[in-house]
Amino acid sequence: MLLTLNNVLSPAQVDHCRARLSAGVWADGRITAGAQSARAKQNLQIDETSDVGRDLGALILDQLSRHPGFLSAALPLKVFPPLFNRYDPGMGFGAHVDNAIRHSAEGRRYRTDLSCTLFLSDPADYDGGELVIEDTFGEKSVKLAAGSLVLYPSSSVHRVTPVTRGSRVASFFWLQSMVRDDGQRRLLYDLDRATIDMRGALSDDHPGVVRLTSAYHNLIRMWADA
Ligand code: NI
Repeated sequence: MLLTLNNVLSPAQVDHCRARLSAGVWADGRITAGAQSARAKQNLQIDETSDVGRDLGALILDQLSRHPGFLSAALPLKVFPPLFNRYDPGMGFGAHVDNAIRHSAEGRRYRTDLSCTLFLSDPADYDGGELVIEDTFGEKSVKLAAGSLVLYPSSSVHRVTPVTRGSRVASFFWLQSMVRDDGQRRLLYDLDRATIDMRGALSDDHPGVVRLTSAYHNLIRMWADA
C-alpha cells in the first residue's frame, strides 16, 4: 500500500527544518547505501550523528507519534532515526530496492517494512526529483508539498529522477511494523477506517461497532509482534 499523509509538519516546522539544514554539513549520500544502490545513488546527506540530524529527526518522530493516519497505516514497532538528503541539479538516484535490514548509528537493527519520504522543499522550487515507485499496478510518481509524507512498502523498486533546477530537500527513513505483511497491514488499515466511519454514523456502543472493533483487535493479536 502506498499512502500520502499531508501536513505531517506545519509550514513553520518546515521553515525551521530548512534553516537548520541549510547550515548543516552535507556529505556524499553513498555513506548509507548498499553495494548495488551505491552505484545508482548521487545525492548529499546530513551526517546522522550530527546535532542537526538528531534534533530534526526527533521533531519528525514526535509529530508522527501523534499522527493517527500514520499509526493506523504503519502500525510502527520501531522507526529508524530520520535521515536527510538533498539533490542538486544533475543529482538523482537510479532504480534500487532498500536494504532489508538497517543499522542505526546507535547500533540498533531494523527490518525495513515501510519506507518514508517527507518532502521539505516546495515543489515549485525545483524541477525533476520525482520519487517513482514501482508496484504491481505500475509506476507511481510522487512529488508532494513541503511537510507531506509518502509511505510505501520497502520491497518496492523505486528511484528519484534527476533534479534539473533548484534543490530537492527531504527526510527519509524506514520503519519496522508490528505487522510484517503488507497485505495484512492493508486489511487492518481498511478495517480501522471502516470502524471509525461506523462509529461516526452509528455510535461507539452500537453492537456492530463493538464487533468490528473486536475483530480489529483480535486480528492485531493474531498478526502483530510487539
Ligand atoms: Ni531507496
